[in-house]
Amino acid sequence: MLDVNKIRADFPILSQKVNGKALVYFDNGATSQKPQVVIDAISKYYQEINANIHRGVHTLSQLATDAYEISRGKLQNHINAKFPHEVLFTSGTTHGINLVANGFASILKPGDEILVSAMEHHSNIVPWQMLCEKTGAILRVIPMNLDGELIMSEYDKLLSDKTKIVTVNHISNALGTVNPIKYMIDKAHEAGAAILIDGAQAVPHLKPDVQELNCDFYVFSGHKICGPTGVGILYGKEAWLNKLPPYQGGGEMIKEVTFEKTTYAELPHKFEAGTPNIAGGIVLGTAVDYMNEVGFDNIQQQELELLEYGTKRLLEIEGLKIFGTATAKTSVISFNIEGIHPYDIGTIIDKLGIAVRTGHHCAQPIMDFFNIPGTIRASFAFYNTTKEIDVMVEAIKKAKVMLS
Ligand code: ALA
Repeated sequence: MLDVNKIRADFPILSQKVNGKALVYFDNGATSQKPQVVIDAISKYYQEINANIHRGVHTLSQLATDAYEISRGKLQNHINAKFPHEVLFTSGTTHGINLVANGFASILKPGDEILVSAMEHHSNIVPWQMLCEKTGAILRVIPMNLDGELIMSEYDKLLSDKTKIVTVNHISNALGTVNPIKYMIDKAHEAGAAILIDGAQAVPHLKPDVQELNCDFYVFSGHKICGPTGVGILYGKEAWLNKLPPYQGGGEMIKEVTFEKTTYAELPHKFEAGTPNIAGGIVLGTAVDYMNEVGFDNIQQQELELLEYGTKRLLEIEGLKIFGTATAKTSVISFNIEGIHPYDIGTIIDKLGIAVRTGHHCAQPIMDFFNIPGTIRASFAFYNTTKEIDVMVEAIKKAKVMLS
């Protein structure tokens, strides 16, 4: 069992007041809070070893390079990638998806098909639309039902020898649905297609095993798993990363440069042009260590309790409707109250110290599907408590009275 009070003491921001009230932070889907070990590791890097990596023979450069590569190894272990060079540092999920989409421009022909799901974040829609514009490929959408679950029989029908890549989130940021990605990966491969999994909303809740999943690409951001912003991971199978062309040209990604011809560096450097977010990369390893110390079994147990309790308490509010009622769901509750704009609720409860996200959550097609302008989204992390849920429920009741 998780000692939540002990865990909360690791996160200095959680004892802050916001608008004069104790902070209730339920916007973990947008970004997680950071434990003191992560905050300290950032300072320690700049105080003790700051230098550019993979470049100098001097001591600090070597220390920084070692720390960066040790962190890559930690991430490799965390997701169970076969090789460290299959783990690329990116600036985040969006960067990872764009890198892969850009690479597929050299593979796709007019009439080829890309499958995306109906519940994608814009960052897993727009890069593929841009790719379609560039190549003449066609974007097809895997539909969902009213519970916010992808319809697998429709997915099976959409797959064909025209499908070149399937791209789907592991967990929906707006609905909390956990998608049946193992099934989807196997089916994509049977059809001869590659598959990318957007794990941005999954990695805070579970530890993906990319070899067991057998996905071709798995992307996520560091800042949702207690790490800093501006750093993320793109896992790609070695064969795919060798096949895709570099995304950006520049320093560090080359073997040899002449004005006549340039040859590229081996993996992972081929995809890591320019000076990366060195502190971010190193500290992401610290964040992953921290999450593993807390333990994903403990995290899941705590978050399931929050999901069940939060769902029950919110449904006590008259006129409240939850969007995203999938059987397999994580600790995200998206909801609206009849006749009230989500933004108004969000603004009022913010004055009471409660942070939730309101709006379309960068997933406008989901809002169109449900025919709503947006939702209020409470997304819980392992450091949240049922008491905080009570505070939110009382605040929403007050806001409802004020707005009705
Ligand atoms: N994609 C993040 C969210 O869902 C920012 O809030």
